[in-house]
Amino acid sequence: MNIDIQIDKVTCIKCGKCVRICPANIFIQSSPKDEIGVQHIQTCIKCGHCVGVCPTFSVLHSVFPAAKVHPINLEELPTPEQTMLLIKSRRSNRAFSKRPVPADKLDLIVEAAHRAPTASNMQQTAFTLVTDVEKLQSVIGLTIEIFSEAANKLKNPFLKPVLKRIMPQAYNYLGYIERMKEAYSAGMDPILRKATSLLFIHTPKDSRFGSADANLAYQNASLMAESLGVSQFYTGFVCMALKMDKKNRIPKLLGIKDVIHAGMGLGMPSFRFENYIDKKDIKVNKI
Ligand SMILES: Cc1cc2nc3c(=O)[nH]c(=O)nc-3n(C[C@H](O)[C@H](O)[C@H](O)COP(=O)(O)O)c2cc1C
Repeated sequence: MNIDIQIDKVTCIKCGKCVRICPANIFIQSSPKDEIGVQHIQTCIKCGHCVGVCPTFSVLHSVFPAAKVHPINLEELPTPEQTMLLIKSRRSNRAFSKRPVPADKLDLIVEAAHRAPTASNMQQTAFTLVTDVEKLQSVIGLTIEIFSEAANKLKNPFLKPVLKRIMPQAYNYLGYIERMKEAYSAGMDPILRKATSLLFIHTPKDSRFGSADANLAYQNASLMAESLGVSQFYTGFVCMALKMDKKNRIPKLLGIKDVIHAGMGLGMPSFRFENYIDKKDIKVNKI
């Protein structure tokens, strides 16, 4: 996509903020209060920082026309205390009620995820939101199936001597897989915990920072979920099953061609946490 960036010389006050903020060094100013120039425009990563800092709307950027630029009232931001309280209150809550999550809340959760930072501002992170009951059941069933197949392989007397040597830690999961299968056979849902929605976060196969991007998106989404009173937890077992399954059964079921990096089980809570608890002592090396 061809990008056009110009400076409105009439309104520009030559403050140089665009010069200091641009990660691609597109804006130049020989000395303070000199006119701002632009260079190698096509290396722009379209982060919009220049447009975001300009106090006089003088950066005319083809990717960010006026309709895409929104003033921030800094006084409306949550206080540090409010932000920390949200962070402390966000927990995994698997005590879901049967009530589905309202669509507008799901939309806000996905939008929060979409607004997370991405490497080089590539914005390749994409989302699949599953609310179809049959598809959710299939994801649970396939996850159990994939874990059962892995367990059978680990127990195979011919493979066991080799596997035990190359992946000893996998044997720690055997008991857990058995219990998971038993719970599933007894009608419980050890995988999605009866979540009514499942959000997958994925990126194209060639994405260099796909996993980092997706997990940052996850955390935005989980904080938004908490503030909306929606419960969530990280569906790690499904993610493990995705990695283990050479046949790609879950992505195929959902028509996902990307690599899935993170999954979030979502639902309305039966009840919410009334207390937050302290974590282990912080390990921080201040140098
Ligand atoms: C990478 C990752 C994988 C996880 N996988 C699962 C999972 O498969 N099932 C589950 O119930 N919780 C899962 N969790 C949730 C953790 O158990 C939970 O985050 C942890 O106990 C801390 O609790 P909190 O989220 O309430 O702070 C996972 C969390 C992370 C970060």
